[in-house]
Amino acid sequence: MCTLLYTILAGLAVLPLFLYLRNPYFVQDVRYTLTCLVIGLRLERVKKSKPLYTMLDCFLDRVKKHPFKKFIVFEDSSYTYRDVDRQSNRIARLLRQRAGLTEGDTVAVLMGNEPAYVYVWLALAKLGCAAALLNYNIRAKSLMQCFSCSGAKVLLTVAELRGAVDEVLPALREQSVSVFVLGQEEQAEQMTEGVKSLSSSMVQQASDLPLDPQLRSKATLKTPTLYIYTSGTTGLPKAAVINHERLTMAASMQAIAGVTGDDIVYVYLPLYHTAGFVMGLAGSIERGNTVVLRRKFSASQFWDDCRKYNVTVIQYIGEIMRYLCNTPKKDNDRQHKVRLALGNGIRADTWSEFLERFGDVRICECYGATEGNIGFLNYIGKVGAIGRENFLHKAGFPYALIQYDTEREEPVRNSRGFCVRVPTGETGLLVAKISQRTPFSGYAKSPQQTDKKKLKDAFVKGDQYFNSGDLLRIDHEGFVYFMDRIGDTFRWKGENVATTEVCDHLIMVECIEEANVYGVKVPGHEGRIGMAALKLKENAEFDSKATYEHVKSSLPSYARPRFIRIQNSLDVTGTYKQMKVKLAAEGFEPSTIRDQLFYLEDNTGYIPMTQEIYNSIRDGKLRL
Ligand SMILES: *[C@@H]1O[C@H](CO)[C@@H](O)[C@H](O)[C@H]1NC(C)=O
Repeated sequence: MCTLLYTILAGLAVLPLFLYLRNPYFVQDVRYTLTCLVIGLRLERVKKSKPLYTMLDCFLDRVKKHPFKKFIVFEDSSYTYRDVDRQSNRIARLLRQRAGLTEGDTVAVLMGNEPAYVYVWLALAKLGCAAALLNYNIRAKSLMQCFSCSGAKVLLTVAELRGAVDEVLPALREQSVSVFVLGQEEQAEQMTEGVKSLSSSMVQQASDLPLDPQLRSKATLKTPTLYIYTSGTTGLPKAAVINHERLTMAASMQAIAGVTGDDIVYVYLPLYHTAGFVMGLAGSIERGNTVVLRRKFSASQFWDDCRKYNVTVIQYIGEIMRYLCNTPKKDNDRQHKVRLALGNGIRADTWSEFLERFGDVRICECYGATEGNIGFLNYIGKVGAIGRENFLHKAGFPYALIQYDTEREEPVRNSRGFCVRVPTGETGLLVAKISQRTPFSGYAKSPQQTDKKKLKDAFVKGDQYFNSGDLLRIDHEGFVYFMDRIGDTFRWKGENVATTEVCDHLIMVECIEEANVYGVKVPGHEGRIGMAALKLKENAEFDSKATYEHVKSSLPSYARPRFIRIQNSLDVTGTYKQMKVKLAAEGFEPSTIRDQLFYLEDNTGYIPMTQEIYNSIRDGKLRL
């Protein structure tokens, strides 16, 4: 009896050692699992609460709890939770009165990062309206396309972006859209028909009393509250539907990563993207902390800002971390209070360099698509990984990596017609089961595109999986690595570029008959830069000037093809799909490619590609 007890006790004593030997991340795994459990239970409670508890209600609770706490710090001003609440009340009243907004309407917002962005969003939420967050870099046809697919009847912008709106005004008028310009003086209203002002004085004169919650009483968990644009992995930009359920869930990311209410979060990523808006802004509301908002990223100002505002949490995309590492070294590189960096896409070498240079910052890589129903988080800080498998996560969010045929551009099916899981350690396409708990809310006004992202009959007849379009690898320790992105999109400078959209613009140039756009890897850079293979019209020469002018006026800089390759005919697959994989692999080295190549030089245009240019790019002397 005694011996038995002794054995058990000894066994218990060595148990931690045993667990540690089997899994050196045991403690972190347990802590993470517990955090997820707590947050998961809280989310379940929120989801079941009646009346519906939205992100706005969460904000109003924070206002009640700490009205005088700083919520937004912007340039040299700061705004408390109460300031922001009152200002959004004013704008809500003005919008209700001038635009006649009522519950269920959608308003497209075309604005840069500034406190008013937050007021406007909260104002719309107070009226029960959804906000479609337009990318302010897009112009003309793309802008109209994005606007139209949200179903909005009102466009809200700011005086600085009037130019972009004026360009599409005739098209907007045709669809009887009303345009409101925040910060535009009232006199300007008479000048252009259909463009109304929301001037500062009008805002200040409006009442700041709270709005009646009845105005937004019809919403359910499934009611759309935001539309965030994504080119996903196929085709033109689409508006991913973010309903209340999704926003609440996604806003818990800061909490999962260990951000607290005392943190000061630096938000400089554009608020029209998920990272800035949902993870940054909404996440901070959920935590009740302070947001240091910045108009735009600046590598030279980054750490000065962090020091000036006592920032403790930063967000990043991979490129940003490299830009920071590329700045000249300074003595005060390690003087800051940043303890956590939350983001996606940092390369392993940049990761190590960043830590070495800027000190002990916990880098928390996360993976997730705006419209996706699956995410990963690398809570261990394992360099290079985007996440870690966790049994709880796996049970709650079933997913699989499946074999993918890159030439035929579709998942491999076995003899019974089902998808095939890749063995551990091998690269496969990430698919995630669509279920009640893990819904895929799809794209606004685009059932076809929504359907395209669904993989049906993957493992059993009748099942449905979300096709992430991303190739991942999971190693034997359970770490998840991002390998590549497939399909009609590539990523450059943190933006997804839809190849079909770039194609559509290229073929509008007189000399171009056909275009095939793809992304090529550049040494020392994340993502892929744009390249186009062109077939010219018969007897036509490549008109570098016209191409440059068109590309410059119609595409944001990150989407412009940096390299052009002239071909006599464009390769297509057996099913007449354009071959991209082979071209992308061939890249842009003049010594190995016999076709004529052009390079887009900033502020000049397309010039013939030379070996010198290639070498400068390869050696990092020429920055792209
Ligand atoms: C930052 O922290 C320091 C020391 O804790 C404090 O003296 C300073 O006022 C803070 N700055 C801001 C902008 O809050």
